[in-house]
Amino acid sequence: MLDTKVTELLNQQINKELYSAYLYLDFSNYYYDLGLDGFGNWYKVQAQEERDHAMLFVQYMLNNGEKIVLEAIDKPAVELTDAKAVLEEGLKHEQYVTSLIHGIYDAAYSVKDFRTMQFLDWFVKEQGEEETNADGLVKKFELFGGDPKSLYMLDSELGGRVYAAPSLAL
Ligand code: FEO
Repeated sequence: MLDTKVTELLNQQINKELYSAYLYLDFSNYYYDLGLDGFGNWYKVQAQEERDHAMLFVQYMLNNGEKIVLEAIDKPAVELTDAKAVLEEGLKHEQYVTSLIHGIYDAAYSVKDFRTMQFLDWFVKEQGEEETNADGLVKKFELFGGDPKSLYMLDSELGGRVYAAPSLAL
């Protein structure tokens, strides 16, 4: 059995990851609608990764005999106003998710729950990568977004992103 607070936060994180998937699916649809199919693809793959993250939390709780309570998933709360602003919202969202992961880690650390800390190590690293990727997208858009040919090439590059199952197996 895991600590009550740690369990509550792990359970909440399932919802947060599913919300992330929902949010990025919204981003993806927005870019497809604009005709930026590469950006649409990039965020579609990101949405798939977020669903995987949720499933890793589900599996970890099941492995530890904890009861899972699924909550309602909020409507995506980001206004899709322009192509660059959406990327900036993506970065902000990843920074928020990092703070959530750190919050669970902190709760696990305070009760010497080494097993949960080890499980979360993968997410700490993953969040570092996700923030770097999101920040990279903003920077690339700043550099190339103003020129149609460069934007076309950037969009083509992002269209090459392929979904891969998470490297963490539970
Ligand atoms: Fe699962 Fe992008 O955080």
